[in-house]
Amino acid sequence: MNGARTGSPHLALLSLALLSPFLAPSLAQTCQSQSHAFSGNRDYASCAELPVLSSYLHWNYNETSNVADIAFRVTGVTSSNWLSWAINPAGQQMVGSQALVAYQNSSGSMWAYTSSVDSYQTCLTPGNLSFGVPNISAVLEGSDMTIFATLQLSSGMTTVNQVWQVGPMEGGSPGTHLTSGDNIESVGTLDFLSGIVAGSGGLGSSRQRRRNVHGVLNAVSWGTLMPMGALIARYLKVFQSADPAWFYLHISCQASAYAVGVAGWATGLKLGNESSANNKVHGNIGLALFVLGTIQGFALLLRPKKDHKYRLYWNVYHHTVGYTVIVLSIVNVFKGLDIQDPEQKWRTAYIGIVAFLGAGAAILEAVTWYIVIKRKKTASSTPKISHSINGDDGYNNGRA
Ligand SMILES: *[C@@H]1O[C@H](CO)[C@@H](O)[C@H](O)[C@H]1NC(C)=O
Repeated sequence: MNGARTGSPHLALLSLALLSPFLAPSLAQTCQSQSHAFSGNRDYASCAELPVLSSYLHWNYNETSNVADIAFRVTGVTSSNWLSWAINPAGQQMVGSQALVAYQNSSGSMWAYTSSVDSYQTCLTPGNLSFGVPNISAVLEGSDMTIFATLQLSSGMTTVNQVWQVGPMEGGSPGTHLTSGDNIESVGTLDFLSGIVAGSGGLGSSRQRRRNVHGVLNAVSWGTLMPMGALIARYLKVFQSADPAWFYLHISCQASAYAVGVAGWATGLKLGNESSANNKVHGNIGLALFVLGTIQGFALLLRPKKDHKYRLYWNVYHHTVGYTVIVLSIVNVFKGLDIQDPEQKWRTAYIGIVAFLGAGAAILEAVTWYIVIKRKKTASSTPKISHSINGDDGYNNGRA
């Protein structure tokens, strides 16, 4: 029954956990993956995933002629959507946009045209732009709609404000797009030469999205699963019938928490270039958590056998680091919430989780003590059986 200590299941879990940061990035879709897929042998040297609305811009820019050949693609749309991509010399806003517009008309063919957006009450009526657009066309392929255009820009227009939009068709013409969420964040700058696309920095920008992903990953892993794994170890092992199930549950809970947590930590490293004092503390706690969590993983491999003389020290060490990780994790989730300052419901939700875990721990603690004391009383005639909830976390606990 000592299979859990032979090391191999631990190693497998641990290597999975350690590999996870390298596996995670492959899940992210990049615009490179679609650059093969343009009709008419079109080939673009540059590509950028725009921050919102599942939009991608591909382009070639000729520095001699200041001609930009662009393909603006939005994924996940239907024939009842219209698209627009614009350069706005007037600012990062809708009014003043020199727009390319496309939709499928009632005969089923795609129509693409230019429109200068002069007011917020626009109907995207066709009109000339402040720069030349010698070619424009559009296609709808599956759920991908793409506008192709050639823009004759002037020499100062290598960095431009770009605005893009997706809206519903209404009665055969472009209807009003949503005026909330991503649809009001679809603005930023584009540098045709460096390829750098910057969002508006507001809610819904790609940075904001990365911050949300970072927050959710870490609140779930460090902030929820890790404490749950500790509760499992502490309170399940008192039941003889849960032995050794609690041990495997504990290991798998902590290993998956660690895997997700390292991915979350990695997303935090990418965000970490804002250097306010608050962020520094948050980042340092994050680093400490990564180190402590990793040490816990390796310590598992070095765990002395239950009756080894050093096992007691190992237990003290394991519990100290474990509880430190839990306290730091919860503190850091709240620090992160302070920095990100999301809607109150997120903070409330996490407070709810912590309260639930805390109440669960309190109840289980009471139940455990009750069971242990009762067991001690009945076992007083057979002193070999001892059930300590603090002394030893070796499974097979209490089996003489
Ligand atoms: C860029 O434009 C110039 C002037 O029109 C032209 O001679 C040149 O071939 C173009 N370069 C490319 C790579 O298309």
